[in-house]
Amino acid sequence: MSIIAVLGGTGHEGSGLALRWARAGHMVIIGSRTADKAQSAAAEINTLLASPSVTGTDNVNAARAAQIIVLTVPYGAHQSTIASVHEHCQHKVFVDVTVPLVPPKVARVQMPAAGSASQEAQAQLGDAVKVVTAFQNIGADHLKDADHPIDCDVLVCGDDKDAKATVIGLARDAGMQAYDAGPLANAVVVEGLTSVLIGLNIKHKVKASGIKITGIM
Ligand SMILES: NC(=O)c1ccc[n+]([C@@H]2O[C@H](COP(=O)([O-])OP(=O)(O)OC[C@H]3O[C@@H](n4cnc5c(N)ncnc54)[C@H](OP(=O)(O)O)[C@@H]3O)[C@@H](O)[C@H]2O)c1
Repeated sequence: MSIIAVLGGTGHEGSGLALRWARAGHMVIIGSRTADKAQSAAAEINTLLASPSVTGTDNVNAARAAQIIVLTVPYGAHQSTIASVHEHCQHKVFVDVTVPLVPPKVARVQMPAAGSASQEAQAQLGDAVKVVTAFQNIGADHLKDADHPIDCDVLVCGDDKDAKATVIGLARDAGMQAYDAGPLANAVVVEGLTSVLIGLNIKHKVKASGIKITGIM
């Protein structure tokens, strides 16, 4: 059982991850810019689970209390949210779910100069933080029904092997198959792939297309 803070867990992606991790027995803290909003989001999940297992507070207190910090905010809020919790992330696993989308052309891959959002996070947080990138290809629609099997694999990138193993375990706990997809530098492909999937969603009029790794027993 881990203590997991989901920053921006009031939103689409974070609330689904929070629901699934709480159901798996983790202690989940929803983080928000506003403690009240986080508490309401936690209460909604607790109603779904019929258990008071999720709590909510502001992002700073959520990050302070957690062992594992998961960032699920829009790219425009990436840098400022990291700055607000910087000191509480040191020596912890920091899971970046952010996709560096540049509206309005969200179906076009537009990566930042650093290579990816998660490399920007690593540079901002410093070497003591174990930044791992995961879940960018999992549509929020798949996550919100905890009984729904997820037909999309999770590619996990990072420079710390043990941190990646932790996140692969978290993916499994949330009902997903995950793979070690190499160093954090590889996140450029995984984050960029989300724009490709958004394009497929638009073309095929679906909510959440996904990817599967084949050839591995
Ligand atoms: N939605 C998906 O299907 C999906 C799939 C894969 C990856 N992602 C990625 O996951 C991240 C979150 O996506 P989402 O759809 O969950 O986003 P969202 O629902 O629009 O926003 C998530 C939370 O971020 C916080 N936030 C929003 N704007 C902010 C701002 N300007 N400054 C600070 N905080 C702000 C809000 O929390 P508070 O108001 O409570 O602070 C909001 O509830 C994005 O980077 C997205 O690309 C999303």
